[in-house]
Amino acid sequence: MNLENRKNLPIGFVDSGMGGLSVLKEAVRLMPNEDFLYYGDSANAPYGTKTTEEIRRLTFAVVEKLLEKGIKGLAVACNTATGAAVRALRNTYPELPIVGIEPAVKPAVETNHGGRILVMATPMTIRQEKFHRLLEQYEDQAEIVPISCKGLMEFVEQGNLDGEFLDAYFEEHIGPFLTEDTESIVLGCTHYPFLKPQLRKYLGNRDIKLIDGSLGTSRELKRRLAKKELLREEERKGNITIMNSSKDKKMIDLSWKLLELDIDV
Ligand code: DGL
Repeated sequence: MNLENRKNLPIGFVDSGMGGLSVLKEAVRLMPNEDFLYYGDSANAPYGTKTTEEIRRLTFAVVEKLLEKGIKGLAVACNTATGAAVRALRNTYPELPIVGIEPAVKPAVETNHGGRILVMATPMTIRQEKFHRLLEQYEDQAEIVPISCKGLMEFVEQGNLDGEFLDAYFEEHIGPFLTEDTESIVLGCTHYPFLKPQLRKYLGNRDIKLIDGSLGTSRELKRRLAKKELLREEERKGNITIMNSSKDKKMIDLSWKLLELDIDV
């Protein structure tokens, strides 16, 4: 396929479910004239409690589906899948521009003023070698505390974005780590930005930054596509297609709702 035709292909997005829509939201803002093809693997979610091998196998299966449809670049919009599969994906598809998302520890450390940084992520992300290396890189610059958030992404998959049950979850899982000097919380799973309004409410008047990697990842995606001259140049409104492995039709409706939700708090 020549370059002009490749340029017209959509950009592929993968996630274990609907979390990656928080990254897609930023990518659409940055590249409104592009087409996007999003695949949420909700039938196999959560990934965060599976083994690395299982996550890799599932991620490859989704990427192959997207490649069959035709994509010009790929965003692995899932921290868990990035940790487990991004290197293998790059080895298998060396021609395809691929970006992955990782917990935004770097921006949290760079904007830190000596306070504690909490990192919320799935159990698998926290166990991964890639995450340990990330922490080692910054451990002498800030106190960084990982928090394994088993069961949290499920609230988003079910569309439960507010309510007392979430406060109870935060109180049990985040509460014990919240100190006077806690300065920021990294949302290290792409599902969590959808819980930002409720997390803000739970944190009350504490001055804590909520940081995620969706903008950084979208910028990197744009940079990589530009480098390969794969960005569209014409002014147009791009199309977004959302697919999901779940047979439940409600998942697509919920996906659109999440994509349009205002989570800038
Ligand atoms: N959205 C995913 C992430 O960013 C994982 C959720 C899951 O499947 O456990 O890590």
